[in-house]
Amino acid sequence: MNILKSLTAASLMILIGCASNPDINREMQAINQALQKAQAATDFDTFSTHAQVFEEHVRAAASKAYSGSDAGARTYEAGMGELTVALTALDAALAAKDLEAGKAALEQCVALRKKYHLKLGV
Ligand code: HEM
Repeated sequence: MNILKSLTAASLMILIGCASNPDINREMQAINQALQKAQAATDFDTFSTHAQVFEEHVRAAASKAYSGSDAGARTYEAGMGELTVALTALDAALAAKDLEAGKAALEQCVALRKKYHLKLGV
């Protein structure tokens, strides 16, 4: 019985510790790092470097298949679709070399993070 209890506890810990979507998780960590560096930038060139890395990882995350319920997969696709649209504003800001507009575009992305993390329970 004690062995059973220990085994159950061990499996629970493994389940909690592991991401259910490890590929997406890896991209999310990279998105987050680039976002923080871009948000902290005080000059356009530094901002641009990190914003482009942010974009690359958003596009990579958008190309990953979500493994979970069908409803979850549809929600993930909808969120990545909205995030990809938000990148248009970021692209425009980068083309105009406009740091303030770029940071405002990133704020739109942060709002989408809140919206979709809440919907997906992550
Ligand atoms: C600026 C935008 C975003 C940032 C910075 C961001 C950041 C992150 C971070 C840091 C994690 C890892 C959490 C952890 O392991 O504790 C995560 C997980 C996740 N995010 Fe995002 N996220 C963003 C937008 C989104 C959007 C729009 C969606 C949905 C369309 C999404 C879906 C997910 C999912 C499904 C996971 C869990 C992956 C897993 O571990 O199985 N994220 N995100």
